Amino acid sequence: MSEAGNGRRGALPPGVSRSLELGEKLRGEGYLADEGLATAIFLALKLGRPLFLEGEAGVGKTEVAKVLSRLLDTPLIRLQCYEGIDVHQAVYEWDYARQLLHIRTAEAFGEREERQRFEDELYTRQFLVSRPLLQAIEHEGAIPPVLLIDEVDRADDEFEAFLLEILSDFAITIPEIGTVQATRPPVAVLTSNRTREVHDALKRRCLYFYIDHPGLEREVEIVRMRVPGADERLARQVATAVQGLRSMDLYKPPGVAETLDWTEALVALGAKELDEALIEATLGSVVKYREDQQRALGASLSLLTGTGA
Ligand SMILES: Nc1ncnc2c1ncn2[C@@H]1O[C@H](COP(=O)(O)OP(=O)(O)OP(=O)(O)O)[C@@H](O)[C@H]1O
Ligand SMILES: [Mg+2]
Repeated sequence: MSEAGNGRRGALPPGVSRSLELGEKLRGEGYLADEGLATAIFLALKLGRPLFLEGEAGVGKTEVAKVLSRLLDTPLIRLQCYEGIDVHQAVYEWDYARQLLHIRTAEAFGEREERQRFEDELYTRQFLVSRPLLQAIEHEGAIPPVLLIDEVDRADDEFEAFLLEILSDFAITIPEIGTVQATRPPVAVLTSNRTREVHDALKRRCLYFYIDHPGLEREVEIVRMRVPGADERLARQVATAVQGLRSMDLYKPPGVAETLDWTEALVALGAKELDEALIEATLGSVVKYREDQQRALGASLSLLTGTGA
C-alpha cells in the first residue's frame, strides 16, 4: 500500500488493488458506481485524500460514505451541515451541566486546596463532549472511520474555512487541553448539492467528482438490485419514465432515490407493468411539486413510450 505525503496512508478494503475491483466490491454492497466514480473513490482511499462529491439530490452521494463504512467494516461518523453550524455542534462542547455539578461538589468541601483541585479539573477531558469531527480524529483502531461531512454547501463560509484547516492536517486544537491529532486520517467524504459554490481552497484539499444521474441501463440495474420484487419489465418502464421526467426540465427532477421509491410503491400495489392510470395514482412518490406533477401527467403517454416530452 502506498504512503502519500504527510504520513497519510490509504485505507483500501482487503483484496482491492485496482479501481475495477473496488467497483465490484461496491456492487456487492448494493452500490453501482460507474467507472469514473469507482476510480475517484479508489484514489481517495489509496491516497488518503478527502473525496468531494457534488451532484443533484438523490444521485447517491451520501450512500457512498455509507457503503464505504460497510466495505471497510468501520464506523460511519456523520456530520450533517446546516446554516449556522459551528464548532460546538461539529467539534466539541463543554458539558456545562456536569461542570456546574462539579463546582457544587467542590463548594461542599471546606478545604481550599481541595476546592482548587476540583476547579482545576473543570476543563479536562472528562467534561468535554466530542462531536463528529473530534470523534473522527480521536478514533482509535486499525481501520480509520468514514467521516461523512454531508451537504457542506449548507454551512456558511466561516465554517468552511474551519473545515479547511481540519482537512489539511486532521488535527484539532482545544485551547484548554492541547492539540488532538488523528493517528490515521479518517476516510473523509464531503457532499454538496451545489446550492452554492464551495470555495476552491476546500475543493483543492479533496478529490472531486460530480455524480450525474445514471443512464437508462445503469438505472434499470440499480432498480433491479435495490427492489428485488420488481421484474425486469417494470424496472425498465420505471427507469425509462424517470429518464423522461428528467428531460422535462422540472422544478425538481427525480433522483435515483425517487426511482426506487416509485418502484417500491408500484410493487406494493402488485403492478407488473406501468400504465397511465398507475402513473397518475403513484406520481406522488416520484414527483413532489404540484406544477411538476401537472406537467408530468400531461406527458404520461410519452413517459411510457420513452419518446420524450
Ligand atoms: N449508484 C447507485 N447504486 C445503488 N443505489 C443508489 C445509487 N445511487 C443512488 N442510490 C440509492 O438512492 C438513494 C438516494 O441516495 P443518496 O441518499 O445517497 O442520495 P444523495 O445524493 O445523498 O441525495 P441528497 O442530495 O438528497 O442527500 C439511496 O437509497 C441510495 O441507496
Ligand atoms: Mg445526501
